[in-house]
Amino acid sequence: MKILAIETSCDDTGIAILKIPKTKAQSPNFVVLSNTVASQIEVHKPYGGVYPMLAKREHLKNLPIVLKKALKQTNISDPKKQIDLLAVTNGPGLEPCLWAGVNLTKELSKSWEIPIVPVNHIEGHILVNYLENKKIKFPAIALVVSGGHTQLILMKKIGSYKILGETRDDAAGECFDKCAKILGLPYPGGPEIEKLSKKLKDKNSKLKVSLPRPMINTKDYDFSFSGLKTAVLYTWQKMIPARKVSDRTLYGQMQIAMASEVQQAVIDVLLKKTMKAVNGYKAKTLILGGGVSANQELRRQFQKALKTNNSTAVELFMPSANLSTDNAVMTAITAYFHRNKKIATSDVTILKAEANLRIK
Ligand code: KG4
Ligand code: ZN
Repeated sequence: MKILAIETSCDDTGIAILKIPKTKAQSPNFVVLSNTVASQIEVHKPYGGVYPMLAKREHLKNLPIVLKKALKQTNISDPKKQIDLLAVTNGPGLEPCLWAGVNLTKELSKSWEIPIVPVNHIEGHILVNYLENKKIKFPAIALVVSGGHTQLILMKKIGSYKILGETRDDAAGECFDKCAKILGLPYPGGPEIEKLSKKLKDKNSKLKVSLPRPMINTKDYDFSFSGLKTAVLYTWQKMIPARKVSDRTLYGQMQIAMASEVQQAVIDVLLKKTMKAVNGYKAKTLILGGGVSANQELRRQFQKALKTNNSTAVELFMPSANLSTDNAVMTAITAYFHRNKKIATSDVTILKAEANLRIK
C-alpha cells in the first residue's frame, strides 16, 4: 500500500509518500518513496522565532508546490488509483499551521476519494524510529524534545502511552532558541548552540560560566527551562560590560563558553530525569525523538549513560538527524500503525486541528 502524508504543525511544510509491502509482520520494512520538507527558516530568521500566521501563509504557498514535487518524484499520475491512504498531523502544534495541512488533506480526500488517518505529532516523533529499527521492546521510555514539547512518555505498546512528566514552561528547543537569541545567534538556536559548543577547547578557561540545572533533583518527571533562559540573560549581561565587546575574539570566546554551558545544562537535566524513568519503569528500550534529539552531544551522552547504567540492558533508538526534526515520513509511519482509525471521505468534515492534542 501507499500512504501520502502531510505535516504542517510548525514551520516545516512536509509531504512524504511511503510504500509498505504486504506483510504479516507487525512492523514492515517501510520504503520512503518521497520525503520533501520545505523549511521556512529564512522567513522566520529576522524575527528570531516562528510567527504562526506568517508560518500558515508560507504553508499555504508551499503545500501545492511540495505536493506536485512529491507526485512527480514518485511518478504518481492518478493518485485516486495509486494512493491507498492519506495521513495528516492534526495536533499538537500551532493551530493556524495545523489547519493548513488538515484543510488540504480534506480537499484531497474528497477529490481522490481516499480516507484520512489523523496523526498525533508527538507519536510521530516516537514511531519514526520504526523506519530504521524494528526491535523496540516494551515497556519503552520515550523522550520527545522539540521546539514546542519536552515530554517523558511511558510506552506500553504502539498506541498506548502515558505522559510521565513534561515541561512546566518552555520546551528544551525553545530554551535553546531563546538563549541563542540572547547570545546574538540566528534562529533556530539549537543547531547554532551545538556548532559553537563544538569549538570549546579549554573546559577550564577563565571564561567558564556556571548555569543552574532547574528541577534536576525533584522527585517527579517534570522539567522547567524558563529559569535557565533567565539565568543566561543575567549572566550574559554581567559578562558583556566587563569585557570589550569590540574585541571580537573575546566576544566569540564568551559566546562559546556560554553556548556549551547552556547545552550541558539542558543535557544534564534531560539525562537525569530520563534515566530515572528508564530505571523506575524497568524499560527495555529508550527512544529519543524531536528536533533537539538531533544534537550530537546529547546523543553521545545518552549512549554513554546507558552503557554505564547498572540496570538490565536497555537499547537506545534515535532517528537519523533529518528524521529527528519535523518531516512527514513520521506522519506516514504513524498512520500505517493506526490505519484502522481511518476516516472515510464522507466523514472528513469531523476532522479538526487540535493545537493541544495529548498523546495517550
Ligand atoms: O521537532 P522540531 O523540528 O519542531 C517542533 O516540533 O518543534 O524541533 C525544532 C527544535 C528547535 O527548537 C531547534 O532549535 C531544535 O529543535 N534543534 C536542535 C538541534 N536541531 C534542531 N536543538 C539542539 N541541537 C540541534 N542540533
Ligand atoms: Zn516536532
